[in-house]
Amino acid sequence: MKKIVILASGTGTNFCALADAFQVTALICNRAGAPVLQEAEKRNVPAVLIDMNRFKLFGGKFKRNLFEAELLAELKRLQPDWICLAGYMLVLGKEIIEAYPNRILNIHPSLLPKFPGLHAIEQALEAGETETGCTVHYVTAGVDEGPIILQKRLSILPGDTPDTLHERLRPLEHQTYIEALRTVTG
Ligand code: GRF
Repeated sequence: MKKIVILASGTGTNFCALADAFQVTALICNRAGAPVLQEAEKRNVPAVLIDMNRFKLFGGKFKRNLFEAELLAELKRLQPDWICLAGYMLVLGKEIIEAYPNRILNIHPSLLPKFPGLHAIEQALEAGETETGCTVHYVTAGVDEGPIILQKRLSILPGDTPDTLHERLRPLEHQTYIEALRTVTG
């Protein structure tokens, strides 16, 4: 059995789609109280919380190296074959990316290489695009730059807002992530 570990820290709809389609070994979350934690509990997926706030000592700067070291130690304990980022909202450090070459997947809400980064949906709208979509790709050191595994397209409708567009994108993301993970896991 291949081990799949999902890193997610938000609402977790992609996590749910993957956990319903595959046997998932664990969820790792970086935000206490994130709704995805409850979704994991409902599905009996073991959840590990590595709370980012613990690494912001005395309200100071985020101690990224300490956080990354704990995350890497947790991954080594879980021994995943595949790591899926699903709204993790943090860029993974070099050491983790190098420890799992071609084993880390991410989903991004645009037709990469268009609109990498955090505001892909807003940027597609602002650019006056008539279509957008989502992309599942391998994670490499460049943010949202790794080789593309699967991409699906969606029309942008007149009057779309970031919210309406994201709402229509979500089911497409779920389908795309499931198909992409099936493809790579064989
Ligand atoms: C998705 O839109 C994904 O593309 C982006 O973060 C969002 C996560 O959504 N990376 P959810 O928490 O899976 O609903």
